[in-house]
Amino acid sequence: MKIVILLLFIYTAALSATKPKIVILATGGTIAGVGQSSVTGQYQASKLPVENLLQAVPEIQDLAIVEGEQVCQVSSQDMTGEIWLQIARKVDEVVNQADVDGVVITHGTDTMEETAYFLNLVIQTRKPVVMTGAMRASGSLSADGALNLYNAVALAASPQAPGKGVLLCFNDQIHAAREVTKVNTTNVNAFQTPEFGILGYIFYGKASFYRESVRKHTFRSNFNIKEINTLPKVAVFYSHADFDSSLIGQSVKNGIQGIVFAGTGNGNPSEATIQALARSVKNNVSVVRSSRTGRGPVTLKAEVDDEKYGFIVADNLNPQKSRILLMLALTQTTDIAKIQQMFFEY
Ligand code: SIN
Repeated sequence: MKIVILLLFIYTAALSATKPKIVILATGGTIAGVGQSSVTGQYQASKLPVENLLQAVPEIQDLAIVEGEQVCQVSSQDMTGEIWLQIARKVDEVVNQADVDGVVITHGTDTMEETAYFLNLVIQTRKPVVMTGAMRASGSLSADGALNLYNAVALAASPQAPGKGVLLCFNDQIHAAREVTKVNTTNVNAFQTPEFGILGYIFYGKASFYRESVRKHTFRSNFNIKEINTLPKVAVFYSHADFDSSLIGQSVKNGIQGIVFAGTGNGNPSEATIQALARSVKNNVSVVRSSRTGRGPVTLKAEVDDEKYGFIVADNLNPQKSRILLMLALTQTTDIAKIQQMFFEY
């Protein structure tokens, strides 16, 4: 009998030794939400601790040796630069542990793409960092958090995931941090990668990749969380007909260091706004032209003489992610040509 127990122990130990180790870092959001009933959209996000998320999906223990840690408990509309730094430092610490194979971050969906892109630029690792969340709180009919978490752990443990940058795993799809964006307010199919499409599918834990994101990220990035203590103030202005360009001057007076202008079409500001942005550049504020259209690159010197005014173009980075790249760029330089080069590389 003793021999049987010993053999069983050795067998279990051998099995777990071959399993990858995945750390789940929980930050809040709907995946940690509690609904009023199974058939209502009313719920409170960011309530359940990481232990509950793990208990709700015992199947993940078959995929990996899983550990959980609560980094913060916020809904993602309340994310701040300070919290990004805190999350990034924790991810950096965990990926540098030799016995850890990958990281999963549970996060609210509203700004998940922003945290994903921030981490994509500042975490120097080849190990998988996978973000996931939910659109429906636990207890809701057809709640999506459990399967999203299962798939995210499977993806982080997959031998195909290393070196592909920060990934977003949602609704059976795998997206690249740079390219993904939230496209739906309530539907479980909440994320898309416009223009380029998904990187792959993940179906009940089985990942299939079809392409990679080619821009610089993670281990090829020149940004490193170890060297970043604070983030500069950068604002996004969303253009529309009859945009009040005096808002720009006011924010410069308030000490803003960078502006992302989400212009119409090819990142176009109105004539009055061009003048306000040009005055900002003269006051040492970096100005990036992005677009509110959601598709296509913003190109240099089309309708706007960028060289004359000292403007930078965002290429095809959306305004909220342009803000992140500009913040990180400003931790290193205010040189317009150098920042422009970064927008073409990252
Ligand atoms: C949030 O972003 O924290 C709330 C919404 C969600 O997680 O889907």
